[in-house]
Amino acid sequence: MNKQNIAKLKMFLMGLEQRIKDNALYFQKIVIKYKSGTKVFPAAVTMDATSNLSMNYNGKIEEFLPEQLSQMISAEAEKYDEIHIWYQERGTKIIVDADAKGVKIKYEDDIKDESKAHNVTSHIGNREYLIKVGQADDLLKEIGILTKEGKVKNDMIRKYNQIDHFVELMQGIIDELSDYDTITVLDCGCGKSYLTFVLNFYLKNILKKSCHFIGLDYSETVINASKKMAKNLGYANMEFHQTDIQHYVPDKPIDIVISLHACDTATDMALALGIRVNAKAIIAVPCCHRELLSQYDYEPFKPIIKHGVLKARMADILTDGLRALKLESLGYKVSMVEYISPVETPKNLMIRAVKTQTENKRAAEEYKQLVKMLNVNPALEREYLGS
Ligand SMILES: C[S@@+](CC[C@H](N)C(=O)[O-])C[C@H]1O[C@@H](n2cnc3c(N)ncnc32)[C@H](O)[C@@H]1O
Repeated sequence: MNKQNIAKLKMFLMGLEQRIKDNALYFQKIVIKYKSGTKVFPAAVTMDATSNLSMNYNGKIEEFLPEQLSQMISAEAEKYDEIHIWYQERGTKIIVDADAKGVKIKYEDDIKDESKAHNVTSHIGNREYLIKVGQADDLLKEIGILTKEGKVKNDMIRKYNQIDHFVELMQGIIDELSDYDTITVLDCGCGKSYLTFVLNFYLKNILKKSCHFIGLDYSETVINASKKMAKNLGYANMEFHQTDIQHYVPDKPIDIVISLHACDTATDMALALGIRVNAKAIIAVPCCHRELLSQYDYEPFKPIIKHGVLKARMADILTDGLRALKLESLGYKVSMVEYISPVETPKNLMIRAVKTQTENKRAAEEYKQLVKMLNVNPALEREYLGS
């Protein structure tokens, strides 16, 4: 290749070096083909856990730093007629073709890739999916929604709808954080973390938003399963810790705290953690509500709550109502929605809270009055806020 085109190639590769450093968490690989006549000499570049690169070329593996990339590739390209480079990071591909005629650079968005369009399924029944088959296959296979052949399993349509609806409900929250450079999400009681994997895909691959995920659970089994899944998918922007939510102290600012079906007062631990770290948004789908059931005592309710089933349902409402009001008193704007159909599970309420002010005195007073009237001491306040 001529000197002029080698210089152009080198300039582009210098830009790529910076991109690799900035996007190390999302880097996947670089595939290179050097060509002379009909002969092709392939090379592949991968990254290790310390963000160093290694090149597999000519039967040898050589380790190097990202800032050496442009020099290494362009020096080798001088010996050939053509070079073709495929750079791949999560959600984006860059293709470079250089020869005697010039250097052509093409950016491809995985999600908007026209060549894949015919394989994309965006509808099943009436639902227009955000997480589409044909675009999110690796993820949907890992979660068990797709068969190895890429078909939605019949008995998984309901689950597929649930995860997609979760992302839909998160859209308004994500919009509130649109000016954040990176969004850090803390999932409390993450279990196998399926929903945060999906949210990670949505943020990074679809919205092209830099993001980081932390999952907490005291079960070693689910933490190991989540780590394995992150490794299988190449999602390096996730960390998982085996810990009690109550004892976790984050080492970085947290923007969104999520708690999905965390048992009983574990939801309160998550809400309290979100409040302590001053999270911009807190999302909770509470699970069982044992705590207030044994506490609340309000004379005018007695003729109704003599029926055990009504007493339990009322306890659910009071627990979540007081949680929402406490969040409001601390400056969060709170909305409640039914996350999935109540036919599937009665535990389907999603509390969505977005911090909009430092405090709300009216809500604080209402909370104080209600707690006194019901004669309760809710876990959120009692144990985790210590106020
Ligand atoms: C019903 S699972 C839900 C898992 C996941 N969030 C989901 O929606 O699929 C509840 C999880 O919360 C975890 N958990 C409950 N209390 C916890 C606590 N105090 N600290 C950490 N993990 C907790 C349990 O180990 C379990 O994995």
